[in-house]
Amino acid sequence: MESKLIFEDKEIIIPGAKNSILPIIAASLLIRGKTEIKNVSKLEDIQNMLKIIIKLGVKVEFSNGNLLINASKINNLNPDSKLVKKLRASFLIFGPLLFRNKQVKIAKPGGCSIGSRKIDLHLKGLKSFSCSIEENDFIKGNLLNPVPVNLELDYPSVGATEHLISLATVVPGISKLSNAAIEPEVLDLVEFLKSAGANIKQKGTTFVIKGADLHSTSFTPIPDRIFTATWIVTALLKRKNIQLINFNYDLLGSFFETLKELGVLIEVNNGIINIICPKELKPFYIKTGSFPAFPTDIQPFMAVLACTIKGKSIIEETIFENRFAYVNELNKIGANIKIEGNRLIINYSKLTGGTVIGKDLRGTMALYLASLISSKPFIIKNKNYINRGYENFEVEL
Ligand code: EPZ
Repeated sequence: MESKLIFEDKEIIIPGAKNSILPIIAASLLIRGKTEIKNVSKLEDIQNMLKIIIKLGVKVEFSNGNLLINASKINNLNPDSKLVKKLRASFLIFGPLLFRNKQVKIAKPGGCSIGSRKIDLHLKGLKSFSCSIEENDFIKGNLLNPVPVNLELDYPSVGATEHLISLATVVPGISKLSNAAIEPEVLDLVEFLKSAGANIKQKGTTFVIKGADLHSTSFTPIPDRIFTATWIVTALLKRKNIQLINFNYDLLGSFFETLKELGVLIEVNNGIINIICPKELKPFYIKTGSFPAFPTDIQPFMAVLACTIKGKSIIEETIFENRFAYVNELNKIGANIKIEGNRLIINYSKLTGGTVIGKDLRGTMALYLASLISSKPFIIKNKNYINRGYENFEVEL
C-alpha cells in the first residue's frame, strides 16, 4: 500500500525516497539483467543519474513513476564528466563499473555545496578490495581480482557505506563492514540488493556480506522521509494539523520526538500518524547527527519554523561544515538568526520582502517555506535547486 499524507483536504502520495533511489540506480549496474523500481518521481538528480547510465549503454524506460533499467550490456566505460559533476551520488557508479569493466576513469562528483564532501572513505574502502586508485582531476581505478574486506569505517558515511556494501555483494567471499551508516536509505538499499539475491546480514552498525550473483528484481523503495518532513513543517508553519497514512514512525523518529518537545501532539495508530499542532509552539534545541539522531536534511526547515516561535531556539549542525548558507538569506528578509560556529541561535521574527539567493537543495526549500510566513512576497533566485529533490513543488505546496 502506498504512503500518503493528507493536508488541508489534499491527499498527496509520498514518493519513493530520492536518497534510496540514487544508490539503487548505481547498484543496478551490478545486475546483468533487469531492475524495476516503483514510485519514482521525476527529480532532477534522478534524471541526471539516469542520463549518466544511459550514456554507458544501459537501457532505461521511465514512465508513470515506474523505472525499468536493463544493465545486461554496458558498452561505454567513460561516464560523462559534465553529468557526473552535477550530483554527489554519481560517484556510487564507480565501484559497480569497476566490477563490470575492471578499469574506470570518472570525474570527481559534484552535488550541493554544503561542506567539503570528501570521498576519502569511499576510496580507502575500495582500495581494501585490492583496487588500485589514482586521483587527480579524475579518479582512475583498476580492479582485476577483487578480494573480500574486513573494514571499519573511520566515520559512518552514508555514501561510503552504500558504495562498499554494494560492491561487497558481488565480490566472492565474506566481507565485513563495521561502523557503517544505518540511515533508512542505506537499509533500503540493502533490502533492494537482497531482493536481487545478495546475502547480507546486519547486526547494529555491522554488515556481513557473502558474495553472490545478482539477478533481475522489482523493488518499491521506502517513502521519502525528507519530503514528508517538508510537508509536516509546512503544516506547522501554518499552525495546522497533518495526517500520514502507512508511514513508519521510526523513519522520522527523532524528528517526531523533537516535535513533541515543541508541544505538537503526535498520535500513532495502525500506520496512521496524526500530527496535531497547538496554537503556540515552544522554542527548541536540536543537534543533527547520524541516524537515529536528528537528520541534517531537515535542519534548514526547522530554522524557518523557529522564526515563528517566541523565545530562543538553538540548532547545532554536526554533519556538514557549510550547511548554514541559507541563514544569511533569511536574515536579509528580516529573520533574527545568529551563527556561532556550528550553532544557530534563532529568535522570533517577522519576515518581510526582499530578494534571497538559493545555494543548495534543502536551504532553497527552507527559503521557499519562509514565503509561507512572510508578510510580503519576496524573490528567490536559483529556485531551481528545489527541482533536485521535489517534483511539482510549486503546484503542490
Ligand atoms: C547523503 O549524503 C545524502 N545524499 C545527503 O542528502 C544527506 O544529507 C547525507 O547523506 C547525511 O545524511 C544522498 O544520499 C545522495 P555522508 P552523503 O557521506 O552520502 C564526510 C540531500 O539534500 N565524508 O554521510 O554525501 C562528508 O564530508 C542530500 O538530499 C568524508 O569526510 O553523506 C560529510 O561531512 C544532501 N569522507 C559527512 O562525512 C567521505 O569519503 C557526511 O557525509 C565521505 C563523507
